[in-house]
Amino acid sequence: MNSPALAFDATTFRRTLGMFATGITVITARNRDGSLIGLTVNSFNSVSLDPPLIIWSLANTSSVREALETCEYYAVNVLARDQMEISNLFASKTADRFKDVEWEPGLGGAPVLAGCCAVFEVRNTLRYPGGDHVIFVGEVERCDRSEREPLIFFNGRYASLAGNPASA
Ligand SMILES: Cc1cc2nc3c(=O)[nH]c(=O)nc-3n(C[C@H](O)[C@H](O)[C@H](O)COP(=O)(O)O)c2cc1C
Repeated sequence: MNSPALAFDATTFRRTLGMFATGITVITARNRDGSLIGLTVNSFNSVSLDPPLIIWSLANTSSVREALETCEYYAVNVLARDQMEISNLFASKTADRFKDVEWEPGLGGAPVLAGCCAVFEVRNTLRYPGGDHVIFVGEVERCDRSEREPLIFFNGRYASLAGNPASA
């Protein structure tokens, strides 16, 4: 069946999605050969409290797709306001993204990055096709948070919180 003609183009869709402000995460894992994988992701969100499930999506064209589809665990590192360089590094084509980054091994050896706002250590349970992305739904086995402020992504740019929401 033919899809109906869309009333908007890809740029309009992307720019409209950009009005949904998000945090920024780096998804990390350890490959079967022991090498480390990580990429910047803002499609992360919560799904379920019981059981504790999270969701995010990965481009079908990602160089680490096979590794992320087959690893047992991955970590979702929620970046803090001062971690813009880490966001850029893990969105780049740099081969060894972990060379100058401080981390320690978490569940399944997935790297837990230092200095983040929060981390979710996730069992890689479910994956679904989602157009030009793969949708990952994972089960959180461990999580941790700090009082650091988050890095925000809005309208195609980095931003930070204007005030402390805790005092609002
Ligand atoms: C703010 C931001 C958010 C991003 N979110 C996603 C995402 O949700 N899913 C995704 O597949 N790529 C996302 N990317 C792009 C990847 O980080 C980027 O393409 C990365 O270089 C992929 O590396 P790879 O080709 O080795 O997979 C995002 C990039 C930025 C800067």
